[in-house]
Amino acid sequence: MFIQLELLAISLSLFIPYIIYRRFRLYLFRREFAKSHGCKEPRCRVPLKDPFLGIDFVWKTLQNAKSDRYLEGTHERFQLYGTTFAAKHMHYPTIHTTDPPNIKQVLATGFEDFKLSSFRVDAMVPLFGQGIFTTDNSLWSHSRALLRPSFARHNMANHLPFMESHFEQLMKAIPKDGSTVDLQKLFFGFTMDTATEFLFGHSVHTLYKMQLEDTSLPSATDITDDDFVSSYTYCCLDIVHNIRLGALSKLRYNPRAIQAQNRAFAYIDRFVDEALNLRNSQKPSDPEANTKYIFLNELAKETDNREELRDQILSVLLAGRDTTASLLSNMFFELARHPEIYAKLREEVGGLGGRQPTYEELKDMRYLRFCLNESLRLRPVVPANTREAVCDTILPLGGGMDGQSPMFVKKGTHVYYSVYSMHRREEFFGEKTEEYRPERWERLKLGWEFLPFNGGPRICLGQQFALTEVSYLTVRMVQKFVSIEARDPRPWTEFYTLIACSKYGTLVSLTPASD
Ligand code: HEM
Ligand SMILES: *[C@@H]1O[C@H](CO)[C@@H](O)[C@H](O)[C@H]1NC(C)=O
Repeated sequence: MFIQLELLAISLSLFIPYIIYRRFRLYLFRREFAKSHGCKEPRCRVPLKDPFLGIDFVWKTLQNAKSDRYLEGTHERFQLYGTTFAAKHMHYPTIHTTDPPNIKQVLATGFEDFKLSSFRVDAMVPLFGQGIFTTDNSLWSHSRALLRPSFARHNMANHLPFMESHFEQLMKAIPKDGSTVDLQKLFFGFTMDTATEFLFGHSVHTLYKMQLEDTSLPSATDITDDDFVSSYTYCCLDIVHNIRLGALSKLRYNPRAIQAQNRAFAYIDRFVDEALNLRNSQKPSDPEANTKYIFLNELAKETDNREELRDQILSVLLAGRDTTASLLSNMFFELARHPEIYAKLREEVGGLGGRQPTYEELKDMRYLRFCLNESLRLRPVVPANTREAVCDTILPLGGGMDGQSPMFVKKGTHVYYSVYSMHRREEFFGEKTEEYRPERWERLKLGWEFLPFNGGPRICLGQQFALTEVSYLTVRMVQKFVSIEARDPRPWTEFYTLIACSKYGTLVSLTPASD
């Protein structure tokens, strides 16, 4: 017994100095690394009442989120502490930045030194598996290489007629007598309908059902379309909840989420199996089999892994659907408050004389593009993001008294970058950045200062898809209605989940054009 204690004492007395030695060596190593890269101390470290865990910082963030001021709260911090600052968040160090060179370093130049935040990955893996949104390194490059050709083969011009049929459903759902309608709700329906048709070749027809208030339409599977939409929506909300909880989410068990997830999977798997059957039955160059573009069938040309197809298709649904709907509703929120801007759009669209625009014509509409850019600037749909350092590395700005020197980034540091706040910097976008002013785009020439779709190797794959869909729908709406009027005196209020849209929707009244 005593001998054992003695042994323990001896090994401890050897072990503890060893740990101290290792720590010290690491410290020296890091100091040398930082010095050789010209790093200086961060210009600002957030002063914390609780210097160990930074609970006050986290608490303030949660309070802001609770009062729908999360984004404003982060913006105020940048005004208070500077455009790049260090802080502590529970047990890990963080750096907050709105400086384009730092963001470029994280997303492009220093891409290899960063990965997705582990909180996001942990929360999303149950639903999205090994899809493009939840992986790094070789698994991610594999996803990217799998998805990219399918996007490349999609011809945007062919997409327009097929959007028109969903637009017709949207028109039926809009009251023509000037009564109030929530466009946000309709836009979420529209993008669900177009996304499901694009992805699986079967639309869930939410808009059609909104008119009928009838949910008994025949479905493609024994899980109904509505059941899929509500299960999928529930899972996404659950994910947001878990991301907010961070490490604490590990303690949570939610059987309803598991059930919802299984229903979503069962629905998707039907389409995956159809795509696989097609793959197996098709001769390599069967001309008849390729009449309609279906994203899932394109993917199934690259892989026959059932689970992988499901993960990727759910990921692209998430990526494409809510984002596009939010951009639309955020833009119409502003259009309804700026009749002069709406009138200018109508002027630009007037050249078409009421007919449907071609893909080329959409691309040439300059003022429309100003409005889109201005919407993505003022209300970026993905307003903030986090990456985690996988090794010791540096950021080019934020160090020294003036913040112009590089700063050291310890392995495990979470770098939070706010596009929302960067898009409000007057040195990049001119004055009154809180106001919606499409005209400011007449003079702007920007690089990493404007980042609605991300940059570097992980840049959004659906940018053209989204811009075309939003442009098309906007042009058609502007053709059909002479004016639009806001029916909600409240200012835009954030509803920030994985993306940001308007909390109270987009309540407007529309006046139909006479022709
Ligand atoms: C207004 C609409 C959209 C916005 C603002 C937007 C924005 C973004 C952003 C910021 C990212 C980077 C996320 C990150 O790396 O953390 C991203 C990635 C992605 N987006 Fe989009 N997106 C939009 C529409 C779409 C559409 C319509 C699709 C597909 C049809 C799509 C497909 C993707 C995919 C697959 C990725 C993952 C890329 C990767 O990680 O390699 N997006 N998007
Ligand atoms: C909108 O922003 C993009 C990205 O910065 C830019 O390439 C494009 O020229 C802008 N469009 C207009 C019409 O200003």
